[in-house]
Amino acid sequence: MLPEGRETAGNLLMTIVDRNSGRTVGVIWCLYEVTDGKKQMFIADLAVNENERGKGYASAALAEAERSARNSGCAEAVLWVYADNHAAVRLYEKAGYLAFREEEGGTYMKKPLTSVL
Ligand SMILES: CC(C)(COP(=O)(O)OP(=O)(O)OC[C@H]1O[C@@H](n2cnc3c(N)ncnc32)[C@H](O)[C@@H]1OP(=O)(O)O)[C@@H](O)C(=O)NCCC(=O)NCCS
Repeated sequence: MLPEGRETAGNLLMTIVDRNSGRTVGVIWCLYEVTDGKKQMFIADLAVNENERGKGYASAALAEAERSARNSGCAEAVLWVYADNHAAVRLYEKAGYLAFREEEGGTYMKKPLTSVL
């Protein structure tokens, strides 16, 4: 999926870094794609190091990825999550994502990226 590594067009790969200490605490990987004529961001991966969880890093990374996607003209953000991954499902629900399809043991969720003035 990443023939040019991090530089592969249409992909946004970011490390999540703690602003104060400079520690890398996780990663987020997003794909930009066009589905049904709509430009959207698909969140392919989001992970925070086990000893850094529960501190708001994933929420902050998600907000930053959404901001970038909005600036790139994406109308919505979409993701797939294992149905039994309760921490992740809660994270996305709290960030405003809604389930819209059950598939392959998981749930597709999405959120409109309306512009924030
Ligand atoms: C899911 C994951 C990314 C969350 O990262 P995090 O930095 O701990 O998340 P945050 O601290 O930003 O938490 C935001 C919200 O998510 C929910 N949440 C996070 N961890 C949770 C847990 N263990 N149990 C229940 N809810 C949880 C809570 O609603 C939380 O808000 P609150 O703290 O106000 O209650 C992290 O647990 C992880 O890396 N898991 C393994 C990889 C993974 O499953 N990624 C998702 C792939 S789709």
